[in-house]
Amino acid sequence: MIPVELQIGLILAAAGGAGYLAWRPPRLRVLRSGGVRIGLGLVALLGLALGTLAGIGLYRFHHPATGSRVNTMVSTSEASITRGERLAHLCITCHASDGRLPLDGGTTNITPGIGRLYAPNLTPGSTLARWTDEEIARAIRAGVHRSGRSLLIMPSHDYRYLSDRDLASIVAFLRSQPAVPRDVPATALNLIGAAVIATGVFPLSAEEAPPVPPSTLDPAAPATPEYGQYLVRIAGCGTCHGDDLQGGTDEFVPTGPPLPPVLTHWRVDEFVRALRTGKRPSGRLLDPKLMPWRDYAAAFTDEELRAMYAYIRSLAAPVAREQKNTPVSGTP
Ligand code: HEC
Ligand code: HEC
Repeated sequence: MIPVELQIGLILAAAGGAGYLAWRPPRLRVLRSGGVRIGLGLVALLGLALGTLAGIGLYRFHHPATGSRVNTMVSTSEASITRGERLAHLCITCHASDGRLPLDGGTTNITPGIGRLYAPNLTPGSTLARWTDEEIARAIRAGVHRSGRSLLIMPSHDYRYLSDRDLASIVAFLRSQPAVPRDVPATALNLIGAAVIATGVFPLSAEEAPPVPPSTLDPAAPATPEYGQYLVRIAGCGTCHGDDLQGGTDEFVPTGPPLPPVLTHWRVDEFVRALRTGKRPSGRLLDPKLMPWRDYAAAFTDEELRAMYAYIRSLAAPVAREQKNTPVSGTP
């Protein structure tokens, strides 16, 4: 692929050339007609606009408005690595070659339209072995590459809620994986990708939302709605099920149904079973290609799934919530 800087240079040069021909056409009959000159002028303006947008997008990509440092105290204790291994199941969809650990890197270009983007190999067999713990933690929570550029697609808008302890556990687990020597192609934007970033339509992982104070929740918290909210956030259920889990609206991911109304008809053990086995109370199966329940089954304990249930049940429909401020009853 031609480097994006060169693509921008070429389009600006082409725009300049078209503009010059439109302004001072040489002694060539076809180029002197009014229609052709207007056409060339439009091509020049469009090229200039696209090239400028792409330049702005490329600048934002390399200089994201976040410099947050992330301090981590990575412990290599057995407990920490075990916890990290559970949570690493949340990364499988993108970072694993065959749907399970280790996280040896994705096999497809996630965004062919805007350039080349593969989820990297996160085992010590990759360049990650040369990153510090802080750099890895910052990539996860703040969406910033070691080089300072933004990451793309990496869901740091969910992971910025990770508690310090959980974040450190994930880093510890990544380091403990077998070293798989597998390189994925390097990330490269194209002209369109850079321009789309400038418009804000394609969000940068590093800038999607203002930073939130990292959670300090203890992973051993009981099945409270607060802990459930934490888990729902770091699992990214809202990506497909929408804000407050009231139904998905993002056309680029599978559309998940609104969850609070569904769960008013499910008991807590039915919810746990659905996420463990993919089987709804009605017997209808959850499609693992649309809803990655197998990863959740491996990531979360029964206690944690019960916490999620408690949280989702506490989310009344927005209208009802405005009318009366009482939480939905029936939380176990
Ligand atoms: C929706 C897909 C997706 C999920 C889920 C995801 N990532 Fe990523 N991640 C990416 C992509 C794509 C990149 C590369 C982005 C780039 O180069 O701009 C990336 C980059 C990274 C990097 C930087 C590595 C490098 O060499 O550049 C780290 C570290 C990382 N991810 C860790 C994680 C961890 C840990 C999880 C799970 C807790 C996770 N990711 C979940 C898509 C994902
Ligand atoms: C990648 C998108 C995606 C993510 C992330 C996701 N879901 Fe889903 N979910 C779906 C889709 C799509 C369906 C409908 C699946 C089907 O019909 O087979 C669904 C169905 C469900 C159902 C059954 C709803 C019903 O009407 O029967 C529950 C419960 C559920 N999801 C809970 C969750 C929870 C909890 C999380 C986070 C831990 C989550 N989902 C994350 C896409 C997603």
